[in-house]
Amino acid sequence: MSAIATSLSLPVVGQAEATSTSSTAIGWVLFAVVIIGFAIAVFLNMRRGRKEVGAELELAANRRPYLSDEELEGRKLDRTLGFGLVLLAIVGVALPLYWLGEPSRQENAAAGFEEQFVGRGEELYNVGAQCANCHGPNGVGGVAQTSLLNDRGEFVSLINWQAPALNTVLYRYSEQEVFDVLQYGRAQSPMAAWGSKGGGPLTDQQLWNIIDYLQSIQLPADEVRESVAKELADTCAPDDAGLCTLPDAEFATVGEAMFNMGLNTGFAGGAFSCGRCHTAGWSWGDPGVAGGGALGPNLTNGATLRQFPTVQSQIDFITEGAEIGKAYGANGQAGDGTMPGYGLNPNAGEPGSLMSPDQTMYTPDQIRAVVDYERGM
Ligand code: HEC
Ligand code: HEC
Repeated sequence: MSAIATSLSLPVVGQAEATSTSSTAIGWVLFAVVIIGFAIAVFLNMRRGRKEVGAELELAANRRPYLSDEELEGRKLDRTLGFGLVLLAIVGVALPLYWLGEPSRQENAAAGFEEQFVGRGEELYNVGAQCANCHGPNGVGGVAQTSLLNDRGEFVSLINWQAPALNTVLYRYSEQEVFDVLQYGRAQSPMAAWGSKGGGPLTDQQLWNIIDYLQSIQLPADEVRESVAKELADTCAPDDAGLCTLPDAEFATVGEAMFNMGLNTGFAGGAFSCGRCHTAGWSWGDPGVAGGGALGPNLTNGATLRQFPTVQSQIDFITEGAEIGKAYGANGQAGDGTMPGYGLNPNAGEPGSLMSPDQTMYTPDQIRAVVDYERGM
């Protein structure tokens, strides 16, 4: 297999243009007015000087006689007490009213923050980090044009590497798994490291803002189901036994069609396929041995039969995917969270998540079909 390197240039993020000329000028004018005014005031003050106004004995405030007792205990007292009563009423009525409104005020503030985060994430997605260039507007999927290099690092050809749709990415990955991909990128692919820990230009906060935005563009489940069913019909037209009936179908079974979904059509940037990670060259339309291994392990020659002694254990793995640091299968190696889960939404039911448990990549039947296909590889 030839080594793949990618030529990428990261755009500079968030360069704010200073539009300062007019406000600087106004600032200088104000500064001049203040300085000149001050100088004039000092000058006039010195010229005028101070005349003696009278003896302190008569003029000091505490020497002047004040109101008599009758006056103090009459209307003046009433007025003061009345004023106190009004203030008390304000505290007694207005404060509880304010408290009543407080929970919804806080909710609105939180929603306002959330909206702001989504807005910042959207700006990064489309402009600042230009995710949309490869993953498409609104995360519909697309391609990354990149150079294919051979083992010696020499240019072989320009290729279009499928970039998976992200409007379903929270169907298959937890937010933390998405965060890790953004932080460190995908080795040996055009997906660069965007987080500062991976050497990229974005802060953790910006990555979470992007994830907030991704959350906001996840498609409804029925729309996804329909589009997958249509793609299956167009590329396979399966019968009841799960065999493809399309006269010139490239695939024999539903399982094979699912494994390669989007190979020639670019459907969802290959987001629903397994081949993009398990078949070398799949992502740029030049697939080698199906399931022969690429980013994901080799699945051929009975590998999955050894790893998953029972069909059910393999179904469970495809359903849940790999979790970071959690061992799976017979040889008990820990996954790194790259293998997506196809039948379980890791974000459904999470606090603050808008996702529902039916938002999954595949139906149980589709998982079964793909497992059957893999066990025959
Ligand atoms: C130069 C093109 C390019 C840019 C820009 C880019 N990506 Fe990617 N991204 C890819 C490709 C290609 C893959 C698939 C890599 C592979 O085949 O394993 C990918 C994979 C991903 C994945 C993993 C999804 C999955 O299902 O495997 C996520 C999440 C992701 N990108 C998010 C982003 C975000 C967010 C940005 C912007 C900060 C971004 N990408 C910018 C090309 C790009
Ligand atoms: C984004 C890349 C990616 C995609 C897409 C993907 N896989 Fe994987 N797969 C992996 C990785 C990586 C592993 C190794 C476990 C880990 O670290 O996540 C793996 C492991 C596996 C294993 C266990 C193999 C072993 O011997 O340990 C099976 C089986 C498997 N994947 C099947 C599938 C099927 C079926 C699909 C499609 C429905 C699929 N994969 C889609 C990356 C992927």
